[in-house]
Amino acid sequence: MEKLPEPRRRAKPPQPVESGVFPVQLLLIFKKHSENEMKLNILRLIVAALCCTSALMVITNVGAQKSLPVSCDLAVSLTNLGIAVPAQTPAATAAPREQTVEQVEKNIKVLNGMPASQLIPVMNYFAASMGRRCNFCHVNKNGQWDYAADTKPEKNTAREMIKMVLDLHKQTFNGSTDISCYTCHRGRNQPQSVPTLPLPVPSPPPGNPGAGPGAAAPPAGQPQASPSPRPAGPSADDILNKYVEAIGGHAAIDKLKTRTAKGTIVQANGNSLQFELYQATPDKFYFLVTTPQGPFERGFNGLVA
Ligand code: HEC
Ligand code: HEC
Repeated sequence: MEKLPEPRRRAKPPQPVESGVFPVQLLLIFKKHSENEMKLNILRLIVAALCCTSALMVITNVGAQKSLPVSCDLAVSLTNLGIAVPAQTPAATAAPREQTVEQVEKNIKVLNGMPASQLIPVMNYFAASMGRRCNFCHVNKNGQWDYAADTKPEKNTAREMIKMVLDLHKQTFNGSTDISCYTCHRGRNQPQSVPTLPLPVPSPPPGNPGAGPGAAAPPAGQPQASPSPRPAGPSADDILNKYVEAIGGHAAIDKLKTRTAKGTIVQANGNSLQFELYQATPDKFYFLVTTPQGPFERGFNGLVA
């Protein structure tokens, strides 16, 4: 199985998988359903197909990370920007030194020295930190991206911000990379500098019921009551059973023999791709995504994938 072609001209790892954010949100918008719902196992098949695609993206990304040299004296890197990167494997030591981003791209002024493979993960991180997409800083004319252009003032502001973050690490935080775009931006382009009032009132910890806001802290040396354990949520089976019940029960689901779905996959950079899905009992499916690079198809006829 191959991964979905990306909107970029070169194949690159599309997302900072290890950073805790998952910016390529594939928003599957099912515009049209015909013949209602399908048997559960068919549903599982397609979920599995989609998972395979994302898993492959993850694998390719981790693969790319592994090829990074272990100790490179880079001016900037994901880690410098405070983004967690996976631990390097010993095999990586032998890997040849990777090209830096300014050797590959046209208009790099501040990210100099960063391994080229980290550019797109970093860009995804910026977009996620700002709560925006690529077009917040980059221009797209009639569907064509011009990432090198400095047309948007936001791009130059971002350059100033990158310099500020790197200076902060060096001058204020003793080399620690704990501060980065998300520290201030938290998913908004204009960071908030005062708390939103009224502040939420913390509930008193159990075993210390008198202690509300403003109550005296427990005397030094006394153990503080531990926060109440979170109540256990419903199990996955409970939720699935409720869902099956809500759509008419197993008997109703068993009557469905085929299902088709058509819709749009919206990627983090704003590009959208059309997809079509056809499923038939007991185990056939066909999945087609139309990309600018050509069709991407997956299928299983019951015997061969
Ligand atoms: C918050 C602003 C911001 C966002 C959002 C952003 N970028 Fe960038 N991008 C930049 C800046 C700044 C540079 C130039 C860095 C430098 O000068 O070192 C850049 C450079 C690039 C380059 C290199 C262009 C060249 O030829 O020099 C590419 C490619 C790129 N970005 C892709 C993306 C993609 C894809 C996304 C969306 C996932 C994205 N960017 C989102 C700010 C942003
Ligand atoms: C110390 C807090 C802080 C950090 C860290 C930070 N920013 Fe900002 N950023 C701000 C503030 C505050 C503003 C709003 C400035 C203004 O309105 O004049 C801003 C504005 C921006 C804007 C312009 C937004 C707009 O609406 O025009 C961009 C783009 C931006 N930041 C990108 C970044 C990127 C990329 C990073 C990480 C490399 C980053 N920032 C890190 C505080 C921060």
